[in-house]
Amino acid sequence: MDDKDMGADLAKVLITQDEISAKLRELGERIDQDYAGRDLLLIGVLKGAVMVMADLARVLHSPVTMDWMAVSSYGSGTKSSGVVRILKDLDVDIAGRDVLVVEDIIDSGLTLSWLLSNLGSRGPASLEVATLLRKPEAAQVNIEVKYVGFDIPNEFVVGYGLDYAERYRNLPFVGTLAPHVYGG
Ligand code: XMP
Ligand code: MG
Repeated sequence: MDDKDMGADLAKVLITQDEISAKLRELGERIDQDYAGRDLLLIGVLKGAVMVMADLARVLHSPVTMDWMAVSSYGSGTKSSGVVRILKDLDVDIAGRDVLVVEDIIDSGLTLSWLLSNLGSRGPASLEVATLLRKPEAAQVNIEVKYVGFDIPNEFVVGYGLDYAERYRNLPFVGTLAPHVYGG
């Protein structure tokens, strides 16, 4: 599949590549300041957070370590249920560590809410969240998120790590899909 094919599937670009990099630099500066002199562990949530992790980590000046978790939320189709299964757990023990969870998107917040209580029970020194995107209108639980890139409308988005049926993750920007892609 080349760029042209993916381009034909898109309805609109919501956030450009330049807007994403500017925002990550901004969040990176705040994170550098907030964690100065500490030993920060970034936890990326697979697979969506791969791009955010890669680009955010590279604008940080602080020395960080990274680990990954993969979770799957039981539920039908694109709806999250809040019942979560760990597909891949962390390699490291986070007890006593300063932990920052790196997410691509917070939709209902159910997955993240489960993840935070799971990680919280492991005794980290601190536990915060950085997400590139958040859909305020879709929120079903109230989660305190320290670093938010963009609040977006309640629409299904793809690109920059986010997929529809595993496709479009490699788009360098965030956009919405044309109705024909969903079979509309
Ligand atoms: P919840 O509702 O639990 O959802 O906050 C979390 C996970 O659902 C996926 N998700 C999306 N994926 N476009 C996507 O490609 C979207 O608009 C979208 N909304 C939610 C994503 O994996 C997220 O971590
Ligand atoms: Mg995700």
